Amino acid sequence: MREELPPEGPPRFEIRVLPDSSEAAEAAARELVAAFSDSRADHGTFRVAFSGGSTPRLLFDRLAQDAFRPLVDWARARVFFVDERCVPPGDGRSNYRLAKDHLLDPLRVPPENVFRMRGEEEPHRAAEEYEAALEREFEPESPPRFDYVLLGLGTDGHTASLFPGTGALEETSRRAVENYVPKLAEWRLTLTLPVLNAGRRVVFLVTGEEKRDAVSAVLHADSPTASLPASLVRPERGSLIWILDEAAGSGL
Ligand code: 6PG
Repeated sequence: MREELPPEGPPRFEIRVLPDSSEAAEAAARELVAAFSDSRADHGTFRVAFSGGSTPRLLFDRLAQDAFRPLVDWARARVFFVDERCVPPGDGRSNYRLAKDHLLDPLRVPPENVFRMRGEEEPHRAAEEYEAALEREFEPESPPRFDYVLLGLGTDGHTASLFPGTGALEETSRRAVENYVPKLAEWRLTLTLPVLNAGRRVVFLVTGEEKRDAVSAVLHADSPTASLPASLVRPERGSLIWILDEAAGSGL
């Protein structure tokens, strides 16, 4: 039985550099367990929002391991997404598909507890639908406060689907928006900064040498800057925890 992390006290800002990606995944998983435990004591329902890409698989596979399975009551967890590609749910690029294959199915998360961004729909309508789902789930809390938000980092400093120079960065009232990303020539759906910054525990999980420069740029930025969207993630009343492997953290 893993010892539980101490209950969340005042908001923390931490940068943790672990020897390798496996240890980094373990640390991110233990933070999620602690967030679950805190939510149970504080308000009952555990609400989590996951990013996509490739890194989250490290966390999902760890959480699905026998050592972690009993530590989170996934039947009581409510699973949301930080962002989504505008593709059908079965597409290999779908963030939902990644979570389904590596977390939702292995842990038998009840489908009614999973809130998918409908990437197959027209982007604006899909974003409005997601805002409505957030409102139903969190009302009257506004902006919605997730217990655990998993974020990644792109080599250009983007996080979620908040890319440099894109419209979603300016959004301060909508909770979820469609965002056209010129460099990818594709539409995305994404939570906005007010929601990310309302998180109780916001965890960046970043691994690999190719992220080193972006990690250094973001964490060394004198002040938040739209040219490095991840630097705009500064939870107002929550903890911000950067979990890196040595390769990604080697420039710090
Ligand atoms: C996405 C993500 C995105 C991701 C970064 C890092 O939909 O792609 O949400 O913000 O976290 O691009 O991606 P990797 O984990 O694949 O490096």
